[in-house]
Amino acid sequence: MGFTGYRVVVTGAGRGFGRALAIALGRDGAEVFVSARDFAAAEATAQEVRHVGARAHAFECDLADAESVREFAEALAETTSAVDVLVNNGAPYLDGDFADAGDERIVETIAAGAAGTVLVTKAVLPLLLRSARPDVVTMVSGCGEYGNHRSAAHEAFYAAKSAQAGFTEVLSKRLRPQGVRVISLYPPDFDNPDPLGPEWNAPKVNGDALTARSLVDCVRFAIGQPRDCFIKSFYFEQA
Ligand SMILES: NC(=O)c1ccc[n+]([C@@H]2O[C@H](COP(=O)([O-])OP(=O)(O)OC[C@H]3O[C@@H](n4cnc5c(N)ncnc54)[C@H](OP(=O)(O)O)[C@@H]3O)[C@@H](O)[C@H]2O)c1
Repeated sequence: MGFTGYRVVVTGAGRGFGRALAIALGRDGAEVFVSARDFAAAEATAQEVRHVGARAHAFECDLADAESVREFAEALAETTSAVDVLVNNGAPYLDGDFADAGDERIVETIAAGAAGTVLVTKAVLPLLLRSARPDVVTMVSGCGEYGNHRSAAHEAFYAAKSAQAGFTEVLSKRLRPQGVRVISLYPPDFDNPDPLGPEWNAPKVNGDALTARSLVDCVRFAIGQPRDCFIKSFYFEQA
């Protein structure tokens, strides 16, 4: 149980990678605090984490809504005195032709992905600073790498992910004196098998698409390092 005693917050954990990471870290013994914009989805993931034997707490948080983020952080502070790891995972995906996307979807993509990441990090920072091993992990994307143009994602998604990249880059420098490691992952498109299904542990061969399982292992590796080892970024060669 490599993460027994760790208190880990995962945003956007009602499905996809956030759910998988919450369940995997729960299996490793972490106490997990999961948020989703739909409380029932967060609670469903929390139940799954409890079933693998860990403590779990569910919260509602719409990353596109500053008040919702504040309320989430307040509820978190009523539940735990400190947070060891914040995982900025939640972010809406958007694809399609530049001109065809609706204005509201564009605003939501940038608000939730970019502003939401900044707001959650700011709101949870006081709890992180009460930890002896604080880490902020952000699921950026290859779309946040300067010069990347290989994804079919909409330009607004590129904008949101580039904002996360710029934010985490400067934050990693500015929070380092306070002992906070800011760790970012820049994966290309990856497969999201069910962490409770047989595919999760399927062996990999050369040429296979990147999977959530391997990304979970990257997160585990980074946050599991001793405090002298600060892995700032994970970049991946695209197939
Ligand atoms: N999948 C990939 O190929 C890939 C590649 C590179 C990077 N990433 C990044 O990795 C992270 C997780 O990926 P994923 O595959 O699980 O993505 P996904 O399937 O698109 O899921 C996005 C997650 O973000 C949540 N979310 C969206 N808008 C939100 C809002 N306003 N407030 C709160 N939560 C919101 C979604 O919740 P709802 O259920 O409420 O929509 C969902 O849990 C994301 O940051 C994504 O950009 C993914």
